[in-house]
Formats: sequence, structure tokens, C-alpha cells
Amino acid sequence: MRGLSQRIRSLKPSATVAVNAKALELRRQGVDLIAMTAGEPDFDTPQHIKDAAARAMAAGKTKYAPPAGIPELREAISAKFKRENALEIPPEQTVVTVGGKQALFNLFQAILDPGDEVIVIAPYWVSYPEMVRFAGGNPVAVATGPESGFIPDPDEIAHKVTPRTKAIVVNSPGNPTGAVYPKEVLTAIADLANQHDFYVISDEIYEHLIYEGEHFSPAHVAPDRTITVNGAAKAYAMTGWRIGYAGGPKDVIKGVIDVSSQSTTSPDTIAQWAMVEALNNVEESGKFIAMAREAYRRRRDLIVKGLNDLGLSTPRVNGAFYVLSDVSKIDPDENKAALKMLEEAKVAVVPGTDFAAPHHVRFSYATSQENIKKALERIGAIL
Ligand SMILES: Cc1ncc(COP(=O)(O)O)c(C=O)c1O
Repeated sequence: MRGLSQRIRSLKPSATVAVNAKALELRRQGVDLIAMTAGEPDFDTPQHIKDAAARAMAAGKTKYAPPAGIPELREAISAKFKRENALEIPPEQTVVTVGGKQALFNLFQAILDPGDEVIVIAPYWVSYPEMVRFAGGNPVAVATGPESGFIPDPDEIAHKVTPRTKAIVVNSPGNPTGAVYPKEVLTAIADLANQHDFYVISDEIYEHLIYEGEHFSPAHVAPDRTITVNGAAKAYAMTGWRIGYAGGPKDVIKGVIDVSSQSTTSPDTIAQWAMVEALNNVEESGKFIAMAREAYRRRRDLIVKGLNDLGLSTPRVNGAFYVLSDVSKIDPDENKAALKMLEEAKVAVVPGTDFAAPHHVRFSYATSQENIKKALERIGAIL
């Protein structure tokens, strides 16, 4: 009998991808739109990384790669964990994936049985709860609010732990909040994982985009239970190359590799060689990251001040390239507020509904200062 599976019928397509597609479509129709929807650096991929891909192609490195990734990249990932995070993760305990997204998707497939619980900290990236459900698990949300700058309280997390808790997802710096968790909070979370024997899935994809404070990997505290996920997209402006990676316990990483072997086989071989260059050419990549970080910092300062000056309450957060802003003044319903901003101000943002952030919308400030100023003026006009 024809028809879609229960599983796929209950899957919610990504809200951020959908709203970004709508914004791009309006722009194609000639609407003068400022899109602040995409979770994507506005910079181009650095030239030295593109050159490495061209060299790989010219050298005929165009065949299938092993499901775990090419050995040279696994070595570069292991060296990166040591150099930047002071973590000892040997190449055999790493895996290369089709973006950080596939690392996370495969991880949930690898560790969850039906009914297992995964703690997610709200407002969360839209894909975590959907990926958990798709793997048969139950997401359990812990709320955070603007008054704490969206930093979770470890005691509240402890209250959500049950015998079915299989993992917690932490994402610092975070999407959609921009929050950077203090070391003490990450340590307390990892301590809980040690105490109750569950995994920490640490999504560190925005690691290099911190404006105040320092990055900390919970794998320092729970090395046997933490899977550290990262990728090329945000640090090296490589969203379209689709390279991510993870490092962690051997059996879990093997599970991730096994899912890849029966689905994607391996990530793009040419893009993997580009990533070898991105990670190993520390000097060139470092210059790019420093330049981008400084640009984002100035934009963050501009947008946080501008939105607060307009009366849209927006905490000053320290990382990634997002802010969550309370748009109750435009409309208490964040979907109506986002629609009004789109239709009347021609500014596209993502409503907070699917992030579990009622009354809020997410602004991505991975766009020029000129665009940010123009967006603030336009929103000011409708207010
Ligand atoms: C929190 C978070 N994790 C993971 C990803 C996945 O990134 P990619 O699959 O492009 O590496 C994203 C992308 O938007 C993200 O925001």
C-alpha cells in the first residue's frame, strides 16, 4: 500500500531552512529584502582552502573515501583537538561526516533505543529534538531565559535526569541564543553525566566565534562519555562544502561510521582535502578566523544596542552570530511579528516558535554593518 511512513510524517522540516528559502525566493522576485535568517557566514571560503581543493581534483583525488574519512583528515582532526582543545583523541576515535549535522544525526541513531531520553537546553537549535525523535528517543527540554542570558542552571538539569536519560546536548556558543556557557556550568553538566552515566554531546561548531569569555570542552571533565562535534562550516566559511567531524568513545564513533557506511558512504573526497588544508594551515586559517571574529564582534555590538534602543529587549550575548530578541512590542505572537517584519519592513528573521523561544525572533548578524543599520531603521519605522 502506498503512503509515507509514520516516522517521516511526524518529522518537522527545518524551520530555519524553510524561512530562509522564502526570503531568497522574495529576493529573486526583486523585493529589496534584508535577510537575517541564515546560519551562514557572509564571507567567502578563504582562497588557500579553495586552492587545496583544486589541487586535489587535479591530482585525481576524486574517488570514494573510507566511511570514517580519509586518514589524513582524521589525523588533522586529532591534531586540532590537541592543539586547540588540549584533548587527546586519537585519529581512530574520530569520524568525518557530511557536515556537523550528519555527525549529530548519526550519533542519535547510534546511541538511542525507543523511549530513551535526551536532555536539550531551550531555546535550542531546531534539529536536536527532531533528530532525537527520528531516532526513536524523547527530547526533554530544560528552559533558560533572557534574564540569565540563556545560561542553564545545572540544578534544573539535574532535576530532569531519569533512569532513561541517555544523553544531554550542549551547544556553546549556542544557536539560536548566542550564549557562551561558563566553564563552571559545562563542568557541572559533565559531572552530572559522570555521576549518572549518560553521554554529553557537545556541539562546538561555533567554537571560534566567541567575543568575550573562553571556549571550554566538557570532554575534559567526562572524557569517556563526551562526543565532541565540530565542522568546517562556521569557522572557515565552508557551509556548502559539507564537512563535519566528531571525536569520542571508540564504540560510539564506530556506530556513527556504521550509519555512514549504509547511507552516505563518505563525505565528498575533494572537500575533505580542502578541510585538511583548513585545519593544518594554522597560520592562514587563523588570520581568516581573527578577521571574521572581529567583524562579527562589531556587528554584535551594533545590533544588540540598536534593538535595545528600539525597545526590543535583547541580551548582550558573547558568541556565534545570533541574537534572540523579544519582539512583543511588534506583536506578542512571534510568528505574526516576523511576518509583519517581513511584509512591512522587508527584514527577514526566524520566529522563535520552533526554537522554543516564544515572543522572540532570531536575528543572524552574519551580514554587513550597512545591512544591519538599514534593518534597524526599517524596524524602527514600523514601530
Ligand atoms: C548548532 C548547530 N549545530 C550544527 C550545525 C550544522 O552545521 P553543518 O552541518 O553545516 O556543519 C549548525 C548549522 O546551522 C548549527 O547551527
